[in-house]
Amino acid sequence: MAQRIPRAGLLLAVVLLLLVPALPGKTKPKSTEKQNQDFSKFVEIPGATKVGGDQCAQCHADLDKTYRRSSHALREVDCEQCHGAGSLHLAAGGYSKESKDKIISFKDRTPEEANGACLSCHSKSDHVRNWFLSAHQAQGIRCSDCHTIHGDTHGKGESEFQGEPQGARKAIESRRQVNDKCLRCHQKQMAEADLPYHHPIREAKMTCIDCHDPHGGSAGNGLNASNTNDLCFTCHAEYQGPFTFQHAPVNESCVKCHSAHGSPNQNLLIVSQPALCLQCHSAHHNGASLPLVDRCTNCHNAIHGSDIPSATGGSKFIDK
Ligand code: HEC
Ligand code: HEC
Ligand code: HEC
Ligand code: HEC
Ligand code: HEC
Ligand code: HEC
Ligand code: HEC
Ligand code: HEC
Ligand code: HEC
Ligand code: HEC
Repeated sequence: MAQRIPRAGLLLAVVLLLLVPALPGKTKPKSTEKQNQDFSKFVEIPGATKVGGDQCAQCHADLDKTYRRSSHALREVDCEQCHGAGSLHLAAGGYSKESKDKIISFKDRTPEEANGACLSCHSKSDHVRNWFLSAHQAQGIRCSDCHTIHGDTHGKGESEFQGEPQGARKAIESRRQVNDKCLRCHQKQMAEADLPYHHPIREAKMTCIDCHDPHGGSAGNGLNASNTNDLCFTCHAEYQGPFTFQHAPVNESCVKCHSAHGSPNQNLLIVSQPALCLQCHSAHHNGASLPLVDRCTNCHNAIHGSDIPSATGGSKFIDK
């Protein structure tokens, strides 16, 4: 018996040690580890040597042409820094199932491998510091699902470039293009953006990335802020307070009453009035004389918080 106790203790200690990495709060450092891993292996082709971009242009003239206008080319990033050294691909004279290991094709590599090629240069960048915590990473989304490296004229000829200044072609061109990219995969938000009341995304006055970091945020839902209310306050500061009298659900989260993306109800409310309020309060007739009105906020106009006390104590959020 006396021997068993330390053994059980040891077992417990081992079990606890195994559990530690799974505990919440321990997940953060993982991202840094992953960020710090060596990504150079994802742009290596065993046995191949570099031949220079001019060689690639011999056979890929169109791609070479569009690539030259990209911001990568203007930073002197060369074909082989993304696609790997080309000598074996040249020797094979092309690309087939058998020779696919001889050049890095982004479509035939796994997301991890394809993204690894990008991360061989960008892993330390601030832009992607939350990538390894993101839903996009977890779902196998590729950098190239959103970023078009060779320019958007793929297969369309050169006409779209006419009249463009001599500047760089960025991997994502415009606010509208950002929204289009996101909405291609996000059907639910696509539908919400078309509802009568919405943040002006369809109008391209706002983009998804005004609120979300596509590379992953530090908080849930990939938000650009540490929580939902802080996000809303960046543009709607008038509701930040502090108020002497706070309305509890407003402090908790704006999305208790509002939809972030779109709603059939005025003011982006998730439920229209008075049903919205009646989820948490009972209706009243405010003395016998007045009929119950649809909009509780006709009277309770300071619904986001108030400094004005009511006669009966607290505040009834009536600032008139
Ligand atoms: C001798 C001609 C030739 C040269 C030189 C050449 N390629 Fe290719 N490459 C081909 C052919 C043919 C294909 C298959 C058809 C296609 O996809 O265009 C191909 C396919 C590819 C693919 C795969 C495309 C896919 O389907 O995803 C990549 C990537 C590629 N080449 C990159 C390069 C790079 C980088 C260089 C320079 C280091 C280069 N090529 C030089 C002929 C060549
Ligand atoms: C910064 C990384 C990067 C550089 C540099 C780069 N490519 Fe690509 N390339 C890609 C990605 C990513 C794709 C996948 C499609 C896309 O996003 O455009 C691709 C696709 C291709 C394809 C597939 C065919 C197709 O029509 O999509 C070929 C061939 C190719 N690149 C050749 C080249 C050549 C030649 C150069 C140099 C002139 C070059 N690439 C420079 C990243 C790069
Ligand atoms: C050889 C290094 C290298 C590789 C590999 C590389 N990049 Fe870049 N990239 C750069 C440099 C340098 C810049 C310009 C400075 C900066 O913004 O960091 C840049 C800029 C960018 C930009 C901002 C400019 C723009 O065009 O919008 C994006 C987006 C980008 N890279 C995405 C990618 C993606 C996606 C891949 C993989 C397909 C990739 N990069 C692979 C070096 C690289
Ligand atoms: C879900 C879409 C999406 C994915 C996936 C994605 N990005 Fe981005 N990325 C964007 C958007 C949108 C921007 C902002 C573009 C802008 O402002 O020009 C951006 C910006 C960047 C920038 C900075 C551009 C600048 O000019 O400041 C870099 C670098 C970059 N991304 C690299 C990557 C890399 C590397 C990956 C893969 C690990 C990746 N991105 C995956 C959407 C995406
Ligand atoms: C290639 C498809 C694809 C594209 C393009 C894409 N997404 Fe996603 N996104 C997904 C998938 C899959 C998920 C995980 C499932 C889900 O939550 O819908 C996801 C999840 C998300 C989430 C939830 C994040 C979380 O942590 O829960 C946000 C926010 C998001 N995407 C925003 C964007 C934005 C902004 C863009 C455009 C810059 C974009 N997505 C482009 C496929 C995509
Ligand atoms: C005004 C800020 C804002 C804008 C603009 C915005 N979002 Fe969101 N999004 C949010 C907030 C806040 C949440 C969390 C909602 C919650 O907690 O109920 C969210 C949640 C999400 C989610 C995960 C939850 C879900 O509903 O599936 C996805 C995916 C998403 N947004 C995609 C997008 C896309 C795509 C766009 C552009 C069309 C976009 N968002 C524009 C604020 C915004
Ligand atoms: C990047 C800036 C920005 C952020 C962040 C933002 N909004 Fe907005 N919001 C706007 C703009 C712009 C409008 C449209 C104003 C207009 O059309 O006059 C708007 C309108 C609204 C409206 C009024 C809609 C109507 O039908 O009258 C509500 C409610 C709203 N936002 C709530 C929120 C909530 C809740 C959040 C946080 C999840 C949020 N907003 C985050 C910019 C933002
Ligand atoms: C208890 C429910 C509730 C919560 C929580 C809530 N709101 Fe509202 N909000 C409303 C109602 C109801 C209206 C419509 C007011 C009216 O009828 O005049 C409104 C209207 C708005 C409007 C549009 C008003 C205008 O002037 O056009 C904005 C913007 C807004 N809210 C932002 C926010 C923000 C930001 C938060 C989080 C800090 C938040 N709301 C939290 C109920 C709520
Ligand atoms: C998610 C639940 C929730 C919703 C929705 C909600 N409230 Fe409240 N409300 C509360 C809570 C919790 C309090 C604080 C209760 C307390 O202190 O007794 C409160 C307090 C109040 C008070 C002050 C009550 C008092 O006795 O001092 C008024 C008035 C009020 N709410 C009106 C509204 C109106 C009008 C709406 C709709 C626009 C609304 N509330 C929506 C939860 C909610
Ligand atoms: C005609 C104006 C008016 C309308 C409309 C109105 N209220 Fe009131 N409400 C008041 C007044 C005034 C008080 C404060 C009485 C006091 O100070 O004792 C009050 C008090 C309240 C209180 C505090 C608790 C109580 O019963 O005294 C709540 C909760 C409340 N209202 C919710 C609502 C809800 C929910 C609606 C919509 C269904 C609504 N009110 C519609 C005028 C109104």
